[in-house]
Amino acid sequence: MFVVPSIAFFAVLFAALVRSDCECGYTVNSTLYTDLIETDFLHLQNITGDTDWQGQDYTVSAELARGPYGKNASTTNIVANPLKNEYDWAGDGVNGGDAGLQLIVRGGTPENGGLIPMAELVTSRDDMLYGSFRAGIKITNVNGTCAAFFWYWNNTQEIDMEFLSTQMNETSSPVNLVLQSPQSAKQGFSAQGTGGFVNQQLPYQPDEGFHEYRFDWSPNAVEFYADGVLLQTLSKSVPNTPGHITLSHWSNGDPGWSAGPPVSDALLTVEYVKGYFNSSDPKRQEDWKSRCPSTATVNSTCAVPEVKEAPNGNSSAHTFFFSQEKNMTTNQTVGGEKSIASSIRWTQTASTAVFVFMVASTMEWFI
Ligand SMILES: *[C@@H]1O[C@H](CO)[C@@H](O)[C@H](O)[C@H]1NC(C)=O
Ligand SMILES: *[C@@H]1O[C@H](CO)[C@@H](O)[C@H](O)[C@H]1NC(C)=O
Ligand SMILES: *[C@@H]1O[C@H](CO)[C@@H](O)[C@H](O)[C@H]1NC(C)=O
Ligand SMILES: *[C@@H]1O[C@H](CO)[C@@H](O)[C@H](O)[C@H]1NC(C)=O
Ligand SMILES: *[C@@H]1O[C@H](CO)[C@@H](O)[C@H](O)[C@H]1NC(C)=O
Ligand SMILES: *[C@@H]1O[C@H](CO)[C@@H](O)[C@H](O)[C@H]1NC(C)=O
Ligand SMILES: *[C@@H]1O[C@H](CO)[C@@H](O)[C@H](O)[C@H]1NC(C)=O
Ligand SMILES: *[C@@H]1O[C@H](CO)[C@@H](O)[C@H](O)[C@H]1NC(C)=O
Ligand SMILES: *[C@@H]1O[C@H](CO)[C@@H](O)[C@H](O)[C@H]1NC(C)=O
Ligand SMILES: *[C@@H]1O[C@H](CO)[C@@H](O)[C@H](O)[C@H]1NC(C)=O
Ligand SMILES: *[C@@H]1O[C@H](CO)[C@@H](O)[C@H](O)[C@H]1NC(C)=O
Repeated sequence: MFVVPSIAFFAVLFAALVRSDCECGYTVNSTLYTDLIETDFLHLQNITGDTDWQGQDYTVSAELARGPYGKNASTTNIVANPLKNEYDWAGDGVNGGDAGLQLIVRGGTPENGGLIPMAELVTSRDDMLYGSFRAGIKITNVNGTCAAFFWYWNNTQEIDMEFLSTQMNETSSPVNLVLQSPQSAKQGFSAQGTGGFVNQQLPYQPDEGFHEYRFDWSPNAVEFYADGVLLQTLSKSVPNTPGHITLSHWSNGDPGWSAGPPVSDALLTVEYVKGYFNSSDPKRQEDWKSRCPSTATVNSTCAVPEVKEAPNGNSSAHTFFFSQEKNMTTNQTVGGEKSIASSIRWTQTASTAVFVFMVASTMEWFI
């Protein structure tokens, strides 16, 4: 009678010691995703060292770029501009101007058929199969570029949010929502009329501040959001293969799309990218099964907080990162640099408090 409770107590204590939060994944409006990627570009000192992202170096001829000019993607056009004060969440970066990762399209007109200098980076992971993807973005006010936040597998399996700076004026500020498909490919990569294209007006000018752009991709539909408000649901030609996330800022001079080239350097600034997704990688699926057995009695999923206002100020831009909390990304692959802001938050006091909380919660769950 005396021994049994002690064993139970130690079992509970042991369980508390080996468990961590969010082991079974992250939920977005009750849809569960097993994996995540999160990058806090406001505090990232050096993109080269971030293993989650691969800056691109490539060139595309004018002919293949389908414009009067070709494209020259170079990592020299991807510039980290972290906040001057590492404890802030908004304001000027160390190089001046808005803090965040800058993707630059260089100004000036190359010779005919020449290449326009641009910027692109892609996630290292290529196994994203359904998920909720978000980015805090401010687009350029320089005419003649296309800024794109998208998921990509190939030219017929692609989900885009594309901003054309030439389409922006005081009375009109659209984002182009696109699902590329075999039909759009047949039309020369115009998704118009395929059910996979909407030129969607935004209730603000996207070059005047940061906003959160988001798309939730499920087997049946893709929902597009801005600052947590649903803009549009597209349910034709929904992709069904795994792929990766890309950030891109480019121009090929095509008067019907990107326009340009821009007359001066055009900056796309990114505060963060977050993705909560399922993996097509059998190894990652095994990892999930091993840390989240079907016999799990603990409710170990974490709800992804929704951003409901523009992430522009020191308070609103301080969005939530599981990867900046202790123990909410155990067995995940999130790489990157750890920001100082996150490590100082984890004091001994907090550690003790959470430990006590975990023991208490675990007892509740296990008993
Ligand atoms: C998560 O918390 C558990 C219990 O406190 C601990 O055993 C484990 O080492 C922690 N893991 C990480 C990655 O901090
Ligand atoms: C979440 O699901 C509920 C019920 O299906 C729906 O009414 C609501 O709009 C959804 N919210 C989001 C942000 O998707
Ligand atoms: C993601 O994977 C989890 C675990 O296998 C599953 O429960 C969930 O339904 C999947 N979500 C989607 C959108 O397929
Ligand atoms: C960024 O990191 C890379 C290697 O990780 C290093 O070669 C480079 O000098 C660093 N750049 C800056 C600006 O610190
Ligand atoms: C592409 O841009 C890089 C960086 O500015 C430059 O070094 C390289 O020569 C360019 N390539 C071509 C083919 O213009
Ligand atoms: C911004 O908020 C952080 C806390 O999130 C605080 O430490 C910092 O001092 C604030 N900065 C300004 C300029 O108010
Ligand atoms: C894209 O990938 C899908 C699925 O693997 C394939 O069926 C399709 O033919 C591919 N399209 C192109 C343009 O390669
Ligand atoms: C703004 O752009 C829209 C759509 O391209 C166009 O119809 C309208 O005339 C433009 N307004 C001004 C003031 O340029
Ligand atoms: C942007 O540039 C195009 C030519 O590339 C021009 O037709 C258009 O009027 C310009 N738009 C604005 C808003 O300046
Ligand atoms: C369990 O997780 C779900 C999904 O995040 C949440 O809605 C529910 O409130 C949680 N239940 C408990 C008891 O924590
Ligand atoms: C996740 O945990 C499993 C089982 O301990 C291990 O084999 C795997 O390497 C881990 N994966 C990561 C990315 O930490």
